[in-house]
Amino acid sequence: MSESTTASTIRWEQDDTGVVTLVLDDPAQSANTMNAAFIRSIGEIADRAEAEKDTIRGIIVTSAKKTFFAGGDLKDMIQATPDQAQEVFERGLAIKKALRRIETLGKPVVAAINGAALGGGYEIALACHHRIALDAPGSKIGLPEVTLGLLPAGGGVTRTVRLLGVTDALLKLLLQGTQYSPRRALDNGLVHAVAETPEQMLVDARAFIDAHPESVQPWDVKGYRIPGGTPAHPKFAANLPAFPANLKKQTSGAPYPAPRNILAAAVEGSQVDFETAQVIEARYFTELVTGQIAKNMIQAFFFDLQAVNSGANRPKDVERSTVRKVAVLGAGMMGAGIAYSCARAGIEVLLKDVTPEAAAKGKAYSEKLCDKAVSRGRTTREKADQVLARITPTAEVADLAGCDAVIEAVFEDTSLKHKVFQEIQDVVAPDALLCSNTSTLPITALAEGVKRQEDFIGLHFFSPVDKMPLVEIIKGERTGDVALARAFDLVRQIKKTPIVVNDSRGFFTSRVIGHFINEGVAMVGEGLDPVSVEQAAAQAGYPAKVLSLIDELTLTLPRKIRNETKKAIEEAGGTWPDHPADAVVDRMVDEFGRTGRSGGAGFYDYAEDGSRAGLWPGLREHFTRPGTTIPFKDMQERMLFSEALDTVRLVEEGVLTSVADANIGSIMGIGFPAWTGGILQYINGYEGGLPGFVARAEELAATYGERFTPPALLVAKAEKGERFTD
Ligand code: NAI
Repeated sequence: MSESTTASTIRWEQDDTGVVTLVLDDPAQSANTMNAAFIRSIGEIADRAEAEKDTIRGIIVTSAKKTFFAGGDLKDMIQATPDQAQEVFERGLAIKKALRRIETLGKPVVAAINGAALGGGYEIALACHHRIALDAPGSKIGLPEVTLGLLPAGGGVTRTVRLLGVTDALLKLLLQGTQYSPRRALDNGLVHAVAETPEQMLVDARAFIDAHPESVQPWDVKGYRIPGGTPAHPKFAANLPAFPANLKKQTSGAPYPAPRNILAAAVEGSQVDFETAQVIEARYFTELVTGQIAKNMIQAFFFDLQAVNSGANRPKDVERSTVRKVAVLGAGMMGAGIAYSCARAGIEVLLKDVTPEAAAKGKAYSEKLCDKAVSRGRTTREKADQVLARITPTAEVADLAGCDAVIEAVFEDTSLKHKVFQEIQDVVAPDALLCSNTSTLPITALAEGVKRQEDFIGLHFFSPVDKMPLVEIIKGERTGDVALARAFDLVRQIKKTPIVVNDSRGFFTSRVIGHFINEGVAMVGEGLDPVSVEQAAAQAGYPAKVLSLIDELTLTLPRKIRNETKKAIEEAGGTWPDHPADAVVDRMVDEFGRTGRSGGAGFYDYAEDGSRAGLWPGLREHFTRPGTTIPFKDMQERMLFSEALDTVRLVEEGVLTSVADANIGSIMGIGFPAWTGGILQYINGYEGGLPGFVARAEELAATYGERFTPPALLVAKAEKGERFTD
């Protein structure tokens, strides 16, 4: 090396053959981001490259960190307010200009992508003439900005549109935020080559420089045409009308501004020159980053998710643990899914049911999932067979000897659950972690009769287990810290996201989702058009429409839970307020025999094959009163508020102790709309903040019933000018 100087976050290393390696290495952080220091550094680098151009033969961009480059500086972005729009816009342009100056220097620039290049990382690589990705395990390439309510504003929209064409750029990268492994990135034209080793990557990078002394980007060659044409092109024009419809389908008409802005930036940017396209991209980005929804989504999907997964709620002084062998009790729908998730994570599974046939049927579920994964190319037959070999179906308690964890998923019945724990507690390892997957029964009461109550804990999975990322951990009154830490570690071991709550009937998720369902059903009972009730849920951003959701859960299960809860509360001397939904559900079940999808009829009709065949026409006949309407906003906010208000009550009651857990649990567990950033962030971000939310809740209470009365904790926080934060 002839020279080495340090620019603050990018090192310039020039060898005596004239190859400059730009090493992305922010000394102040574990990962490189587009923070203020980077913006300054990249500008200085561009200055130097231009000044010393004659001594440079080519440039390699790589990183000294594990990841190539992490992306935008989210800590900074979440602070951006509308009055800073001009400043944000100019900062964005500064990055773009510096990258553009390096891109058009007239020297070959190669990205040696040594690790994950998501968002800003891939945008830096896009500004290079040649992209080589190291085939590192877990390494990902893509532009996931849309999942944070943003768009790629480091030239990402402008360049991918020119690289892939508008259609592919939108569908493969921008609108879904898809992340690709290095191999799949190569197959999809996102990188030019994949290298097996870091050394090979650098050798290949130099070889490219040697072979292409005067590189330019394809889009800077005169006469270059965007693949697939621009909107003026007849072929493109034929495809264009499908976009708004697809977009609407993707977001169900819910208020997600990012896909809309991405679409506009891509289409408008494709019709103008490169520099103008960058300005358009910067404008649409500025609008997103200074708005509320990007803040909500950054808070949830970056900061809250990180806090939850890194164990902000895990007892610190308990050593990390791993489970080797787990007993899953009950091979029904949930047990079968839990067995599959554990086996995939390398855990031996004993899957127990009452008969060998029932246990085998549970294992057959994993066989089906494995076959599907193989046929879709997501795994190899060999790996799938290894997963299956880890699952042993059994009907014998004696086979559970040596299991270091137990997950019970038999029928939702307290005395049956007591019985199965008694059967197995002396057979499994003497310190085995004892978990119940009950969806509603209080953990403290279930632990009674178990010998080691300190090792007993709730582990509430969601259906279908293989797809749903969340597990709600429920701490009973006598659950110990060691059990809590071990349960947390087990959930992470199977690569799911754990939230932690204290014991209560229905815990957090099951209790709160009940309000959403009740509100939807109550509106049907008030005579509102059921089609508009479903639309209100979809346009509020709920992934499942409310009446279709209750059909899935069955009408009888919430009714059973409601009756049991009512009985328990009244026996304890309390009162249980009747909900206007109760009478509707009772009529549906008792008068019309409609119990939900599994019974073949519910709020919807079902075809022979179980598919939905439209809302039941009888709803109009028996419930709808033509001409009855309320504002659409009220319909949506009745659902959102009923859930959010009870979440505040759960904070008051000490069931929820972490804002991040509430936000993440609500989005990942029960489908609270992602644009809100989660259920407590919805309150924080409501127009007018907490005081605005309280005022609106009082309005809803005056019109629709006392259940919307804001809880004391919320009113107090609003008065003190506080928000929900950890
Ligand atoms: P399921 O009815 O599909 O399966 C229950 C299984 O337990 C059956 O295969 C049954 O044969 C077996 N079983 C009964 N007695 C047994 C015994 N003594 N030993 C071993 N196995 C026995 O029920 P599902 O839906 O899988 O639910 C199981 C548990 O998970 C319940 O507590 C439920 O509340 C809870 N849960 C259910 C969710 C859902 O979406 N279905 C979501 C989260 C939790």
